[in-house]
Amino acid sequence: MKTLFLTTATLIAGTAGMAAAQQTVGFSQIGSESGWRAAETTLTRQQAEERGINLQFSDAQQRQENQIAAIRSFVAQGVDAILLAPVVATGWDSVLEEAAEAEIPVILLDRRVDSAEDLYMTAVGSDLVHEGEVAGDWLVGEVGDEECRVVELEGTTGSSPAIDRATGFRNALEGHDNIEIVRSQTGDFTRSGGKEVMESFLQAEGGGQDICALYAHNDDMALGAIQAINEAGLNPGEDILIVSIDAVPDIFQAMADGDANATVELTPNMAGPAFDALEAYWADGTEPEKFIQTDSTLYTQSDDPMAEYEARKDLGY
Ligand code: AHR
Repeated sequence: MKTLFLTTATLIAGTAGMAAAQQTVGFSQIGSESGWRAAETTLTRQQAEERGINLQFSDAQQRQENQIAAIRSFVAQGVDAILLAPVVATGWDSVLEEAAEAEIPVILLDRRVDSAEDLYMTAVGSDLVHEGEVAGDWLVGEVGDEECRVVELEGTTGSSPAIDRATGFRNALEGHDNIEIVRSQTGDFTRSGGKEVMESFLQAEGGGQDICALYAHNDDMALGAIQAINEAGLNPGEDILIVSIDAVPDIFQAMADGDANATVELTPNMAGPAFDALEAYWADGTEPEKFIQTDSTLYTQSDDPMAEYEARKDLGY
């Protein structure tokens, strides 16, 4: 295989000393499916502005082919680096090879790809399997020895968070045979998808009487599901326990209202660590670790949800 990524020596010879010039970074964003995604976009723009980076933004509207076209266009423009939040995990090899051939570093944001590691500079994100484990551990602790039938709202099919958050949750449930996942379907990480799928779960499960808990791969789907549960005449957070991932402001409001029980935080500030890595690389060729990990903190109703809501409400969610 051809050398697809630059050596440090090549870089120092080729790009060291460029830190003073304005850098252009292309950002291929997935879309705006969730509050978390909107905040990631806002913070990326803010971070770029604060650092004097010229950000070229491209919204893929959930389509991988749009992301591939955007990356090709960034390569043709000769940008200094590319940020990619990949909608799905597979199918990136060719376009990443094109970026590597053009000696343009690519940084993955929040989601992973199944391509070889030498095709990208680093990935900034959480341990997505661990997030699912944190959510599952919370549920295990909450239900104890009670029988519990769980429904699961999955993220976008084929995306790394949908795959890994499902795996992590199941890891946590291992050995707890009283807890069973009885239904699992994608809600595509959207509020409307969460509501629609939850309505069908409720219908199929005795109007919701047979459901003990909902695990949603993100807060937006949980928020849609909460609406569906209310409309079905049940009390979300009491009749059906709700655990999800992201820690968006609205889930804290729902927790304060008693409608949601727990969330696992995913910081939307992926761009900060990504730009830090790029600035070090531009300055002297320093290459980052292959994975820059962000935290996965659990919040429950006992963590002063209104204070958490206030702390986040103006961050672009
Ligand atoms: O990739 C991160 C996930 O994508 C977030 O958890 C979800 O809200 C978003 O759509």
